[in-house]
Amino acid sequence: MSAGGDGAATPTPHAWRIGRWALLACVTGAQALVRPVGSSESPPPVPVAITIDMLDGMTRLPGDLGPLPPVPVSADNPQDEAKVELGRRLFFDARLSRDRAQSCASCHDPEKGFSDGRPRAVGFEGRQLARRSPSVLNAAYNNHQFWDGRASSLEQQAEGPLLAAAEMNMSADLLGARLGAIPEYNRSFQGVFGGSPTLKNAARAIAAFERTLITPNAPFDAYARGKKDALTFNEKRGLTLFIGKAACVQCHNGPTFTDSRFHRLGVQGRTPGPEDVGRFAVSGHDQDRGAFKTPTLRNVCLTAPYMHDGAFKTLEEVVDFYDRGGDSDPQKSPLIFELGLSQQEKSDLIAFLRSLAGQRPVGSTPGRSRDATTAIAPVPPGIRTLGLR
Ligand code: HEC
Ligand code: HEC
Repeated sequence: MSAGGDGAATPTPHAWRIGRWALLACVTGAQALVRPVGSSESPPPVPVAITIDMLDGMTRLPGDLGPLPPVPVSADNPQDEAKVELGRRLFFDARLSRDRAQSCASCHDPEKGFSDGRPRAVGFEGRQLARRSPSVLNAAYNNHQFWDGRASSLEQQAEGPLLAAAEMNMSADLLGARLGAIPEYNRSFQGVFGGSPTLKNAARAIAAFERTLITPNAPFDAYARGKKDALTFNEKRGLTLFIGKAACVQCHNGPTFTDSRFHRLGVQGRTPGPEDVGRFAVSGHDQDRGAFKTPTLRNVCLTAPYMHDGAFKTLEEVVDFYDRGGDSDPQKSPLIFELGLSQQEKSDLIAFLRSLAGQRPVGSTPGRSRDATTAIAPVPPGIRTLGLR
């Protein structure tokens, strides 16, 4: 696990000033934004005014905002069609939980943007968990998995919910034995991995499936590729705010709209229960206390409610929160400050966020796109599923 130290207070106000330089450079067609470095002594960021004409004239957008690159594949878990298909069946199979009540899709439901629509997830025997289920769409691009980044790879991540007592509550032995008793799974594991079902290989197959859950070709992507009419006037104005006055791009940058860092916004404390220390539990660094991973904003309009604890029901509530500079939390990131947005600017910003919804994955084969609007294909007969209708 990489050390933290990239929490709220550290780098970025200074970086934002670098960003302004880079932005000007972008206007003249030069290199895009440089990765932030700096110190917390820097003065607070100065809002930048960007016009739509400037935006339309850019060949590269600030903050490295742009279309999704090819999905990264792990060298020791290469993609192939049979593995993805096995992973897809496992993802939707409730027999992967001890009481056969929950599949991955119970909390990562294709109908709900691969999240669950709840403020906080509900786990084994109806227990409420401390955090919200993030979408697994585009999770293949994450440098860190989970809100505190405690897993790095999808393979490592998938073992988490399977083994967690509060979630699927399995053991490696029980999983192997249960799947091994199902001839169809036995055959598939033999074919894909050359052995009978194991926890490790189930996690690898699920990870391979998750690498197909990619949502390219959002209206924003078409715009970033140069189709200047792919965004409406309001969406473009929202984008100018996102990279300018509202300064969202300080943290939500790159093709997935996340800096892969951890920041304390101070949203927690609305839900009962002990304080969630967030990234601190992983890094042990004091500045990471209450810091959470910057989530992707792709498909964000599909995955309400918001934040690690579901504190906000709508995007309007999220934008109001940023607009007032966050709430009273003396330790919140200095990158959060009062924005002074008008009602029109708030709704433009939200219009832009909505333009980040991409094509839905078909879900069986990487790279093959049939009808982009079809959700995950039905699971073959004989495999019980949850989360599919
Ligand atoms: C009981 C609900 C539940 C089940 C079942 C569940 N998850 Fe999750 N999932 C969550 C929650 C909650 C988180 C965030 C937890 C945290 O950050 O501590 C999460 C996080 C993730 C992430 C990280 C995404 C990100 O952006 O950080 C991935 C990937 C994921 N789950 C995949 C799976 C897979 C694969 C399965 C089945 C093996 C599964 N989940 C089963 C609730 C669930
Ligand atoms: C200091 C870095 C930072 C800045 C600046 C920032 N964000 Fe965030 N954003 C985060 C982090 C971290 C979270 C998750 C916080 C949590 O869960 O407690 C988040 C969460 C969100 C979410 C919820 C996503 C989800 O899936 O729950 C939305 C929407 C969002 N931000 C939009 C914006 C917009 C719009 C702006 C500009 C007005 C902005 N952010 C500025 C770091 C930042």
